[in-house]
Amino acid sequence: MHSKLPEVGTTIFTVMSRRARELNALNLGQGFPDYDIDPRLTELVAEAMRGGHNQYAPMEGLASLRERIAAKLRLFYALERDPESEITVTLGATEAIYSAIQAAVGPGDEVIAFDPAYDSYEPAVRLAGARCVRVPLAQPGFYYDWERVRAALGPRTRLVLFNSPHNPACTAASGADLEALAALIRGRDILVLSDEVYEHVVFDGARHHSVLSHAELAARSFAVFSFGKTLHATGLRVGYCVAPAGLTRELRKVHQFNTFSIANPLQHAIAAYLGERPDCGRELADFFQAKRDRLRAALAASGFRLPPAQGAYFQLLDYGALARQEDRAFAERLIAEAGVATIPLSPFYEHPQPLTFVRLCIAKRDATLDEAAERLDGFARRLGAGA
Ligand SMILES: Cc1ncc(COP(=O)(O)O)c(C=O)c1O
Repeated sequence: MHSKLPEVGTTIFTVMSRRARELNALNLGQGFPDYDIDPRLTELVAEAMRGGHNQYAPMEGLASLRERIAAKLRLFYALERDPESEITVTLGATEAIYSAIQAAVGPGDEVIAFDPAYDSYEPAVRLAGARCVRVPLAQPGFYYDWERVRAALGPRTRLVLFNSPHNPACTAASGADLEALAALIRGRDILVLSDEVYEHVVFDGARHHSVLSHAELAARSFAVFSFGKTLHATGLRVGYCVAPAGLTRELRKVHQFNTFSIANPLQHAIAAYLGERPDCGRELADFFQAKRDRLRAALAASGFRLPPAQGAYFQLLDYGALARQEDRAFAERLIAEAGVATIPLSPFYEHPQPLTFVRLCIAKRDATLDEAAERLDGFARRLGAGA
């Protein structure tokens, strides 16, 4: 068979999780919590199934869940969105991203993505027949170099993939970044897909700048969110896309033949949960900031440099002062010699940069983070001692 994605192998997340299991390492690689979800959510899922909500849900998502999502947008962002025509429930953010890309671009089109880029973007663009133009975030600190973006835009550009808070850079876009993006695409036939799955995980008192709160961008954006992240339950696979009616119409044309509709009992349960806890998500910034600070404090004297983490549930480790090695090899060493699985950054790049970062997921129990820090600290000391 002729492969449509010849270079795509198993994702780095799967590879590292498999290695972690083989070597019995702590898995701080793949981004998923290792603690329990709210038992109330479990009860509500069971109640929904017992209540008989086990047949197809409506294609666009359960009306009650879309209404709860509209209420959430009102509460958090003071925005009015029509659940009928502007909100679609999807199979996690991944499906929202995939379906939006299929709806928005086709052969001959170009899509801008920023490296390091979340790994599902480029394959989705290629399956749509379009081409991804990847613009690296600038160093130090993974900032948007808007002049570079301007140079990458061309007559074929149809979509910009934006992600804030950013995985894996752990940055949060500013209002000025949104302004710069809006100015660049003004007057051009270009849409935006804004991946905001970490909307609630912004640290140090900063607020999340959603494209939805920027009227000009909102008018041409698909904004994508994930209950997997907000409810600490990545296995639920329920997300949603908020977009103007015209874009939503096109997104749903793809969605209805892609996943058709999303698990009905889960939608009932999440709608009921949001009914009981409409402000759920509000606590995530403090919750993850405490974990970030705990890990940073435990590694402060380790010899690893810890770049600032403004958002998303990760912390980067810079091993540049300890070893001169490419990041995949160093991550393999961390699994084998420190017993900690991480994610190297080079797989998130089209052209890997000479960077010395690995990513740690902080959505873990404090005991897991403490143990990982102890192992990493011990490993760094052995490296420093020339062991
Ligand atoms: C930046 C980013 N986008 C999208 C996703 C996918 O979200 P979901 O699990 O809801 O499909 C993730 C998950 O890790 C992510 O980090």
